[in-house]
Amino acid sequence: MEVVPLGSAREIAMAAADIIESVVRRKPAAVLGLATGSTPLPAYQELIRRHEAGTGPSYDGVTCFNLDEYVGLPPGHEQSYRATIARELTDGLGISPDRVNGPDPDLDGLQGAGERYEALIAAAGGVDVQFLGIGSDGHLAFNEPGSSLASRTRIKTLTEQTRKDNARFFGSPQEVPTHVLTQGLGTILEARHLLLIATGEGKAAAAAAAVEGPVSASCPASVLQLHPHVTVLLDPAGAARL
Ligand code: GLP
Repeated sequence: MEVVPLGSAREIAMAAADIIESVVRRKPAAVLGLATGSTPLPAYQELIRRHEAGTGPSYDGVTCFNLDEYVGLPPGHEQSYRATIARELTDGLGISPDRVNGPDPDLDGLQGAGERYEALIAAAGGVDVQFLGIGSDGHLAFNEPGSSLASRTRIKTLTEQTRKDNARFFGSPQEVPTHVLTQGLGTILEARHLLLIATGEGKAAAAAAAVEGPVSASCPASVLQLHPHVTVLLDPAGAARL
């Protein structure tokens, strides 16, 4: 695991954008794994800025897979992760919506949605580089503490803490959906390169547990220690407990 303490969120955005661009330059048909949340936004903005300035690579051949999705929001809801990723990144990079995949939260097909999503990822050849944030409780995607380290894409119930953390995107904690579809920890580990970003003091304890603690389902992000190619980018506050 490569742990890279950097001076600011801005430096992290530059470093993350460099990593993504180098993957896409090397492999124009790269498969990118995308995460929601506030953490990757500066990196997404930097990628868009470079794309608009004409200095970035072409994203014409790129395919994307989102990590997770809420269940129970009306289709097209602005806080759905499909809409969020389009708004925050892929529209700005000119990646067509039909090349951006996410777990399908349609209630009628929910039963087989996990297997179908895994089959799509496999058919695309797997994820080349996966963006990851970390929850304040150490969750990855929506794999809450207690998730099996071998878990696959499936339905999960959110903890009260995560619903509280994500309430800022909704009117109130009650409006945050209770259920989600999320890639499993076993699914995430199959990506060829994992790029975890942790910024701010709220992530310091979780980042330390993920990087230096025991590999344990009580800190789902500790599963990263089992992967051969992980880059962890931290700002000073995020690195404070290492
Ligand atoms: C959500 C997402 C995670 C994300 C986490 C942290 O729970 N499912 O993928 O890492 O929030 O979000 P933030 O970056 O806003 O702190």
